[in-house]
Amino acid sequence: MPESPIGIFDSGVGGLTVLKAIKKILPHENLIYFGDTARVPYGNRSPNTIIKYSVENARLLQKFNIKTLVVACNTSSSYALEILKEEFPFPVIGVVKPGAKLAVESSKSKRIGVIGTEATIKSGAYRKAILSLEPFATVFEKACPLFVPLIEEGWLSDKITELVAEKYLKELTEKEIDTLVLGCTHYPLIKDTIKKILKDNVTLIDSAMAVAEEVKRKLPHRKKNKSQGVVRILVSDKTPRFERIAKMIMGEDTLIEEVSLDSE
Ligand code: DGL
Repeated sequence: MPESPIGIFDSGVGGLTVLKAIKKILPHENLIYFGDTARVPYGNRSPNTIIKYSVENARLLQKFNIKTLVVACNTSSSYALEILKEEFPFPVIGVVKPGAKLAVESSKSKRIGVIGTEATIKSGAYRKAILSLEPFATVFEKACPLFVPLIEEGWLSDKITELVAEKYLKELTEKEIDTLVLGCTHYPLIKDTIKKILKDNVTLIDSAMAVAEEVKRKLPHRKKNKSQGVVRILVSDKTPRFERIAKMIMGEDTLIEEVSLDSE
């Protein structure tokens, strides 16, 4: 149905960067976001658990009759995208391919860095996606497992986040990369901290806008009524911390609803 919402999920606050980008280019569409805050982070879990959580999240959003699903989580996109595409009747859009494409387009030297959760880096999803577009690229990957907890804590520009970033990114700065993919939807929230550590010529790739463009291109039916779309934000655990960061990203009037994943 054209009036049906677009569903978007992530393990926590990170996917809100994608929600914001979709809202910007599709302001009339109804959007429903689910942040699995009760089970964040996903990045240090096994592939089976990541797939299980991703399918459960998609089922929850299916109850709201979504017309498209955006997997605004690189970890889920790396492991569960194909399964979600097979299992659900609506189009499913992930974040890895659009990010890889943007990186290849932006890099001159084709020396591309990728940072992400442990699981995303282990999956090799970005390496594969980048090399399929540019076989002569050299890809340097680095897992940054402490970033997500620091971001969920709201420590976006604190000294401790800077120190952690310095430690993680040091080896990448020595590789002479000219492009760094933020391969986790949480990372754009600490973009300024990351920038401080990298050389000035390094372009940061935040795939949020590229994903939003893809959603626009693939949307099965556009909403007919051109009134402002309704944005709902659901979480599996409502905490003041989530609320604070969500308001910072989406605006002060943002309302958060708690839902149970196993409610009928
Ligand atoms: N924002 C997510 C991602 O893009 C998930 C991070 C996590 O839960 O570990 O990978």
